[in-house]
Amino acid sequence: MILRFRNEMIDWEISVGLDKDIHKYLEIEIVKVSSSLHSGKISCINIISKKSCAGGLIIRKYLYNYEYPVIGNSKLTKKLKNCSDKGLFLTLFRISFLEYGILGLENPEFVCEIPSKFSKTIVREESFFNRKLEESRKEFENSIVGYPENDSHTFHDFDPVHKKPLAYISEQKEFCGFKFHLNEEVLIPRKSTEILVRTSNQILSHFRNSEISPNYKDINAVNHAEKTRILDLGTGSGCILISIIKMNRESMNIAGTGIDISNKALEISEKNSDDLGVKELTNFIKCDFSNLLNITELIKSGPFDLVVCNPPYISIEKKSKMNLSSQIYEPSVALYADDGGYEYYQQIYSSLNSSQYEQPSSRLLTEGSVLLFEVGKGMADEVINIFKGWNVVLKRNDHQGNVRCVGFSKFKYRFNLSDAVD
Ligand SMILES: C[S@@+](CC[C@H](N)C(=O)[O-])C[C@H]1O[C@@H](n2cnc3c(N)ncnc32)[C@H](O)[C@@H]1O
Repeated sequence: MILRFRNEMIDWEISVGLDKDIHKYLEIEIVKVSSSLHSGKISCINIISKKSCAGGLIIRKYLYNYEYPVIGNSKLTKKLKNCSDKGLFLTLFRISFLEYGILGLENPEFVCEIPSKFSKTIVREESFFNRKLEESRKEFENSIVGYPENDSHTFHDFDPVHKKPLAYISEQKEFCGFKFHLNEEVLIPRKSTEILVRTSNQILSHFRNSEISPNYKDINAVNHAEKTRILDLGTGSGCILISIIKMNRESMNIAGTGIDISNKALEISEKNSDDLGVKELTNFIKCDFSNLLNITELIKSGPFDLVVCNPPYISIEKKSKMNLSSQIYEPSVALYADDGGYEYYQQIYSSLNSSQYEQPSSRLLTEGSVLLFEVGKGMADEVINIFKGWNVVLKRNDHQGNVRCVGFSKFKYRFNLSDAVD
C-alpha cells in the first residue's frame, strides 16, 4: 500500500519495532521525507538515531529479540525502494499517521512484511553479532577483578561497543522499582544497595509499631505524632532516600535530607525527588562527612531518627583492579576512600558521635536514632570497631553470606529482622 504524502502534514509517526519501549533506546529523528517525482508518493525517509548507543550491539540484539531486521551499519535509512542496500540500518515496516483525518482516509497505515530477501542477511548478521558479543563478553569478564561481584555492572548493563555502562547511555537506572535519572556525575545505583532500603523499611515499621522496647516511649526516640526524619549521607542520585520516602510516605509522617559533597550529585538528587514526586518531603544540602555539625541548615532539618549511608569504601589500592568501565566512567569521589577504604566511616563516626554531646537543640540525631551503613565485603568487623560506644543493633548478609549492612544505635533495640536477604 502506498500512501499519498502531503506537504502540510506534520504530525505523523513511524514505528520501527514491535514494542513501543524501543523508543527508550532508539529516539529517532526524521531528517527528511521526500515525495517521488511521480506526484506525492513517499519515496525516501531519512531517519537518524538521536542516542549514541543506537549503533551498539546491544541495540542490535534488542531489535533481533523483537524479530526486527537490523542490517549493516549506516546511520541513515536508504530509499525505501533500495531497501536491500547493505547500508540500511533500520528497515521501516510500518508508517502510520497521527492525524490521518486530514488525508480523508480511514486509519491509513503502511505495513511492510520483512522482505524475504532479507532472511539470509539477517542470519549472517546474527552470527556476526553473536561472535562479536562473545568476544566482548570475554573481554568484559576479564576486566572485572577485585570488585564485589554483585556490585559490578553485569554484562547486560554494559554496551560492549562503547564500553560504557548502559545506565550512562540511557541516563537512567531502576532502583527499588523506581526509575532514577543519572549521568556520569553520580554513581550508578547498585542492586546490592537495595538492602539498605529494605532494612530501613523494616526499622521504620518497628518505629511505627512501637514494639521495639518497653523503654521506647521513654527515650522519645520517635514520637509518632512527629515527623520521622531520615538523613542520607552521600546521597548521589538520591536513590536510597527517595526510595525510603516513597515506600513509607503513605504510612507515616516522614521527611528526609540528603547530603553530598558534589554539587552535580545534588542537582541530580533534587531532579529525581522532583520527578518522583517527593520534592516537598526532601531537601538536599552540600556538606562534607567530616563537617556535619557545622552546617546550620542540616541541624535545622533534623534531628534525625534514621541515618542511612553508602559511603565510598573501595580502597585506593584496589582502584587499578576495578573493572574498566567503573574506572573510566564512574566518579572517583563516589567510589574510593583512603585508610584501606575506612576513611569515611571514621569521619562519619567522629561527626555523629560528637553530636551526642551537643545541646539537645543542636543535636543532629534523636536519642534513639539508628545509623545504617552499607559496608564492603569483609569490612563489617572493622567498621564495628570504628563505632566504639555504639550498639550493633543489626547485621544483614548478602547471598554469599557476607555482612553488607550494619546498624548502630546508642539505644539497645531488639530488632526482630528476618535474616533473609534477596
Ligand atoms: C558510594 S556513593 C553512594 C551514592 C548513592 N547513595 C548510592 O548508594 O547509589 C558515595 C557518595 O558520597 C559522596 N561523597 C564522597 N565523599 C564525600 C564527603 N567527604 N562528604 C560528603 N559526601 C561525599 C559522593 O559524591 C557519592 O555521591
